[in-house]
Order: sequence, then structure tokens, then C-alpha cells
Amino acid sequence: MKPPIYLDYNATTPLDSVVIETMRPYIEEQFGNPSSSHWYGEKPAQAVDLARKQVATMLNCQPDEVVFTSGGTESNNHAIIGTATALKDKGNHIITTAIEHPAVLEVLKYLEGIDFKTTILPVDGKGMVQVSEVEAAIRPETILITIMHANNEVGTIQPITYIAELAKNMEIVVHTDAAQSVGKIPTDVGELGVDLLSVAGHKVYAPKGVGALYVKSGTNLNKFYRGAGQEAGYRAGTENVIGIAALGKASELAHQNQQENIEHLKSMRDRLHQGIADKVQSVKLNGHPEIKLPNTLNLSFQNLEADRILDKIGDRVAASAGAACHSDTVTLSHVIEAMKIPVEWAKGTIRFSVGRMTTGSEIDQAIDVISTAINDLSQ
Ligand SMILES: Cc1ncc(COP(=O)(O)O)c(C=O)c1O
Repeated sequence: MKPPIYLDYNATTPLDSVVIETMRPYIEEQFGNPSSSHWYGEKPAQAVDLARKQVATMLNCQPDEVVFTSGGTESNNHAIIGTATALKDKGNHIITTAIEHPAVLEVLKYLEGIDFKTTILPVDGKGMVQVSEVEAAIRPETILITIMHANNEVGTIQPITYIAELAKNMEIVVHTDAAQSVGKIPTDVGELGVDLLSVAGHKVYAPKGVGALYVKSGTNLNKFYRGAGQEAGYRAGTENVIGIAALGKASELAHQNQQENIEHLKSMRDRLHQGIADKVQSVKLNGHPEIKLPNTLNLSFQNLEADRILDKIGDRVAASAGAACHSDTVTLSHVIEAMKIPVEWAKGTIRFSVGRMTTGSEIDQAIDVISTAINDLSQ
């Protein structure tokens, strides 16, 4: 059986073949520990150094501002808990939004349990937080603003540069979860103006289980793992050389081919959108119509249920649901809920996300499968 057409690149990406080749020597002969002073440590240590430079080039920062982690979740945990505990004598208030990934919202819930206070800001109908609301939420005891760069479900890009500018004047640390934006749009930390930025390897054609945290030089951040002194003492533990080498190469590829990749993603996404809109009557786009990731297409189909749509197309197209229906109750994703999408639309929400490997022929086949399923279910 042919596998379904993969339109879920925001969930994870396949490995780039160049990335696989970059990993190979460290899987095979170059198995040494980068901390070893003998021959076996040399090449692995060089691989980690090179990868640090490659990630730094992509983010436009210094190599020593890059800390390798196990992925987006760890980077977010490190950024938020590391800042909160380092600055607890200064204040205990943190600002975020209602549409963050659980890797932010759950961390904040944990911090609330140990006496930190949070303000969870709403977003508008397009999934955008208002800078004025961020400003109004700031208190003398605010120590951290953590707001995602781009949303994983609807793709809306947040006004991070403006938020960071605001925070800088008040000496508040700014973290952005860039798990979904890295590799899809520019993520220059200087332009964004952030102090901390999270990267997830498996969203940029590197493997699962590797990521990075940008820590602006001079940021007051506590260490995450205690132990030996790897990662400048921020994150002890023998480095995941295979994953780190892969993330380095993946970052280089994303950076070198950025414009070309963006054009490809946009053209695939827009072709899918247009194709479905031409063949299906009651469909609505969620998220910001312009200020959004080039690869993400979040659609609601009126009076249909997302699970039933996915059941019908699942053997031919792989995508994600934005709602789950159980007998007579509907559970909307927290993002769709925060955007206050009317339930007759919200319950039929599907996220399609295209990637570098997506082809025009896949899109055309997917349009047929999706539109036929929607029209059948609508009868
Ligand atoms: C916005 C966002 N943040 C964080 C994560 C978690 O990253 P990881 O799976 O690398 O832990 C994800 C993954 O889906 C994400 O989309």
C-alpha cells in the first residue's frame, strides 16, 4: 500500500538526505566522546563546534550563545524555568498568550504552583496578540515575557520585534518559542530583539530529540541539568553528537536556501488552498491571512467533524485535527478556542502543513481526496 500523502510537516519533518549523510560518520566510526582528549574525541568535538557555528549563522548570533538541548520542549523549559529561578528576587510575574504550545503553558502551570504569577493574554480572531495588551499587562514585578514566534496550528506570526522593544526599555527578559518558525521564515535574533529563542530539530529536517536554545550573552539564566560542564555549564551531559551534527547541517540548509524554500512552501500551500476552495462550498481559512507561516493552511469546514474528515481521508492524506468530537461533546484545540471561532466551523478544523519535499502532484491528488471527502460528508 502506498503511504498517505504527508501534509503534516508542522508535526514533524522527514530527515533531509544531506542531513542523513552528515550524521553517518558519527553513527559509524566516529563514536568518540567529544570531551575525550584522545584521537576518538577529536572529530566529534569538531562536529559539535561546527554545528554550533551553523546554528549561530542561521540565528545571526555568536556560537557561544547556542546551547544544544533535546528539542523544543527542553529549550522552552530551560528558558522559562531558568529565567524564573534566576530572577525570583527581582519579581515573580510572567506574561504569555493563550495559544502557546503545552511546552510553555504547562511549564507556567508548574511555576504557578511554586508562587509565580502569570498573565495569559488573549489573541484576536486571526490568532494575533496585541502589543498594547502586552504593554498593559506589564507590572513592576514582571520578569519574563514568553510568546511564540509562529503558531503551530494556524501559523500566525506574532509581533515579537515590537514586544521585545517594549520589554527592553523595562529590562524584562523576552523568550520566543521559535520551534515552528525556524527554517520557515527568517529568525534573526538581532532583528527579533529577544534574549532567548527555542529551536526544535525535528521541525527542520533534523532528527527528533535534538534542539537548541539561543541565550543572548549576558542573560541571567540558571543551568538546566547539573553535572559535568558541557554546553558552557548550562546543560550537563555527554552531547548528542549525531543529533547535533544533524541540526547544524539542517540549519545550514535552511539558511542557505531560505528564499527558495519560502517560495516553494507558499506555492504548495496556496495551490492546496485554492484547489480546495474551488471544489468545496463551506470552507474558511483560520489564522492571519498574510502574517503567517508560508507552509501552514488551517481550514474549517462548516458543520463537519474533524475526526470524521480525517477518518475518511486518512489512508490517502495525513493531516491534523483542530478539534475532537466524542458522542455529543466537542473538544476544540486551545488555539481554535482562543480565536473564538464559532463552533459550527471550529469542530471541522483541519491543519494541513506542507514541506520542502511536497510536490505539485501530491497537492493535486490531495485536493481531489479532500474535496471529494468533504462533499460526501456534507450531503
Ligand atoms: C510551537 C512548538 N513548541 C514546542 C514544540 C515542542 O518541540 P519538541 O517536539 O522538539 O519537544 C512544538 C512541537 O510540536 C511546537 O510546535
